[in-house]
Amino acid sequence: MAQGYQLSQALYVAAELGVADALAAGPLDAHALAGAVGARADELARVVRALVTSGVFTETDDGAFALNDAAACLRRDAPGDTRAIVVDFGTEMYHAFGELLHTVRTGQPGFEALYGQPLFDHYTAHPDAEARGSARMRARSLLVAQDLAAAPLFDEAGIVVDVGGGIGTVLTAVLQAHPALSGVLYERTPVARLAGPYLAEHGLDDRCRIVEGDFFAQVPDGGDVYLLKSVLHDWDDDRCRTVLARCRAAMSPHARLVIVEIVLPDHTTDDPDLVPGALLDLIMLVYAGGRERTRSEFAGLLDATGFRLHGTTPLPSGPHLIEAHAR
Ligand SMILES: C[S@@+](CC[C@H](N)C(=O)[O-])C[C@H]1O[C@@H](n2cnc3c(N)ncnc32)[C@H](O)[C@@H]1O
Repeated sequence: MAQGYQLSQALYVAAELGVADALAAGPLDAHALAGAVGARADELARVVRALVTSGVFTETDDGAFALNDAAACLRRDAPGDTRAIVVDFGTEMYHAFGELLHTVRTGQPGFEALYGQPLFDHYTAHPDAEARGSARMRARSLLVAQDLAAAPLFDEAGIVVDVGGGIGTVLTAVLQAHPALSGVLYERTPVARLAGPYLAEHGLDDRCRIVEGDFFAQVPDGGDVYLLKSVLHDWDDDRCRTVLARCRAAMSPHARLVIVEIVLPDHTTDDPDLVPGALLDLIMLVYAGGRERTRSEFAGLLDATGFRLHGTTPLPSGPHLIEAHAR
């Protein structure tokens, strides 16, 4: 466990350099591989060998490096885009985790201590970091988006409003699965600008309106279903109550609110199924100043903002679908 970050940085270096892409046509020796990715042969070989010992890449009998199934996931064109997750985890997030002790002592997110401003302000000022973060978020949302598209949430709905909907990963899957549905994607301006081309690429620009705005100020009205996926966990309880109140103000009495988040257990054990939620909670602690929550914590936030928790359903991909109705 203490050496986990050493391996994750080795994985990051391979992903950042595009080692898996360079090996797509077949094995290469260290010199050829280093030439292909613009690195030094001996140093790169030592990084790749460390990964080989953990099951990512193989070394052939004559000392060349080759892809295996795990390494192939790091190719830029691999389904699921694992590379985007590895690259983003290895840059700002890796450095922010170096400030975890500071966060635990002071309460200040490590990200803010290191970069001098909150996560989304930093993203606005650094489009490269925003693009990397959005690519990671898209990759992490793909499976959940399929689960949501298959859930019986949209059968009677005409318009779904995805509040903080990212570049449109979830809306794309949902609109593709429900041809009669239209969407509203509500986002900060920099992400809204990334969403336009993404929705157009999927042929959905005529069924989805992109609205730029700030969900702490207001949320578009007129929706039948309001989605908040992986949004509340970015924020502390006060900020969550503001976002929920803005949604409540925008919603007609028949509209439903659907929150998609990990639901933490009331009691923690060493069950391996609890690891993703616990680590995501640490990411929120260090990165954004938010948190993962238990069912009763969600119920409390909803109750305080004019909603009633209707039910929670675990999705096959891990998080829960939390449905709330206006009170
Ligand atoms: C963790 S991402 C989730 C994206 C998307 N819902 C998904 O699950 O793929 C949180 C999103 O909230 C957006 N966001 C943050 N602050 C916002 C604000 N004040 N108003 C609107 N959107 C905001 C971010 O730009 C980001 O895309």
